[in-house]
Amino acid sequence: MNFLEKKILEEAIVLEESILKVDHFINQQLDIEILRYIGQQFATHFSDKAITKILTVEASGIAFALATALNMGDIPVVFAKKGLSKLNSDDYSAVVYSFTRKQNTNIWVNKKYIKAQDKILIIDDFLANGSAVSGLIEIGTAAGAQISGIGIVIEKSFQGGRAVIEEKGYSVFSLARIASLANNQIVMAE
Ligand code: G4P
Repeated sequence: MNFLEKKILEEAIVLEESILKVDHFINQQLDIEILRYIGQQFATHFSDKAITKILTVEASGIAFALATALNMGDIPVVFAKKGLSKLNSDDYSAVVYSFTRKQNTNIWVNKKYIKAQDKILIIDDFLANGSAVSGLIEIGTAAGAQISGIGIVIEKSFQGGRAVIEEKGYSVFSLARIASLANNQIVMAE
């Protein structure tokens, strides 16, 4: 069991058998020791991919993208913004459906921040149904960039996100994989 999995098992709270509450170290307060660990793990795993840019989506993904960038030679971090872009040709955008929040959100990145020659590492805090990562893939590929890696802090393996991303031809590297939250018990994947 790794450092993050141990922290989740010891401190996370399960809500309604499907939501993992980790506000005190991931989603609102950041635990810097965990953040440093996550950044180092992603940087090591993707070290041979010649990544030129890290792409995430606001808000919670930014800290983990930054921690990774600091360990990958200070490469730039770009975060997709949520909400309506000016809907002009200056932006790449995607519609992301949140199953957790039951609503569509537009995410967008200005075209000047992703170029066709970029090798992109997508980082996000949670993988549930895969819609946020799918939106980021859509934005990266619209720019003609290569999606060279996908790193997830916490994957809820009992939801369909991994399959959605793999069907698109990408592999997913997750630092913690939750197999089940049934009966409000956290079970890690093998
Ligand atoms: P998906 O992108 O994989 O399909 O997931 P989904 O739409 O269901 O996720 C919507 C939001 O809920 C995302 O945050 C995601 O990180 C978060 N989320 C999903 N499952 C969990 C969970 O079990 N625990 C916690 N804490 N968050 C979860 P967001 O709306 O983008 O929020 P933020 O990044 O602005 O904080």
